[in-house]
Amino acid sequence: MSLPQHVKIFEVGPRDGLQNETALVDTETKVALIEQLADVGIQTIESGSFVSPKWVPQMAGSEAVFGTIKRKKGVVYSALTPNMRGLERAISAEVSEVAVFIAASEDFSQKNTNCSIAEGIERSALLTEAALAEGIQVRGYISVAAGCPYQGEVPATDIAPLAKALLDMGCYEVSLGDSIGVATPGHIKNIVDAVATEIPINKIAMHLHDTYGQALANIYAALEMGITVVDSSVAGLGGCPYAPGATGNVATENIVYMLNGLGIEHGIDLDKLITAGDFITKKLGRANGSGVARAVLAKAAL
Ligand code: HMG
Ligand code: MG
Repeated sequence: MSLPQHVKIFEVGPRDGLQNETALVDTETKVALIEQLADVGIQTIESGSFVSPKWVPQMAGSEAVFGTIKRKKGVVYSALTPNMRGLERAISAEVSEVAVFIAASEDFSQKNTNCSIAEGIERSALLTEAALAEGIQVRGYISVAAGCPYQGEVPATDIAPLAKALLDMGCYEVSLGDSIGVATPGHIKNIVDAVATEIPINKIAMHLHDTYGQALANIYAALEMGITVVDSSVAGLGGCPYAPGATGNVATENIVYMLNGLGIEHGIDLDKLITAGDFITKKLGRANGSGVARAVLAKAAL
């Protein structure tokens, strides 16, 4: 099967990554990370979220982050918004793009957003309409698309109507979340096949946590099916506060290294990206979650 010539990396480290750190990360560090990521050539950076600070205190300072970053021309700085209050905050913070998020299981929907799937769709539709009226583009996520920590298996056929609902309400793209990182390539193919019966393949992105170490193989499978947008997190930071045990998204460094090997364009400078990942992992005092970064840094230290 053929592979795409170009892949867009959608960096989620400053949001999906830092939302899951036990220690609160200061604004200065978040801003330094986002500015470094913009400098390495990443086009879209999910830089924070405007969720309830009672639910996710790590993201409480997102106004300060958006108010401080020096915005680079051509880079989109996006934020996650769960409801109208979140959108209002995002608009005040002059966010360039927002994302709504729904879940593929009732249990996860309740744990993550305190509402049913149907209510989540309704909230997201209201938010999307209001955001589009303000000229703000909206992306849609479907969490636990490949398995739920509470419900267990999620049938691929459950995902397709949710993806259609997000596209119908006005989202420009739907990112399929393997929130707990359990999928294997055959599973990903089933999900993408099912979703592609309802929405065009060029409207689908992959958001794969790497808990079971399958994310890169899953991304390769998705690329073979015509997917060209992949979410990732520098140094593999993160997880989801409502998906116990889940580790971060696939490390951006690992994808970039794989794309380099495949001769697929992405516009990112791998060395500078590794420096950005090294910066944030040292600040957090945690191990670098990218095997590529660990190998390159170890070689450089010789
Ligand atoms: P709720 O408790 O039902 O909301 O939470 P509420 O409307 O009853 O409000 C409760 C309190 O929160 C009120 O304050 C509101 O003002 C306040 P009080 O009156 O008690 O002082 N509040 C807000 N404050 C600031 N900004 C807001 C906001 N909304 C309410 N936007 C709610 C419902 C949706 C708000 C809550 O469940 C929530 O914030 N959930 C988000 C949880 C979250 O951020 N999870 C992680 C991100 S999703 C993810 O990581 C998955 C993803 O990566 C894809 C994947 O991997 O699958 C995207
Ligand atoms: Mg996630």
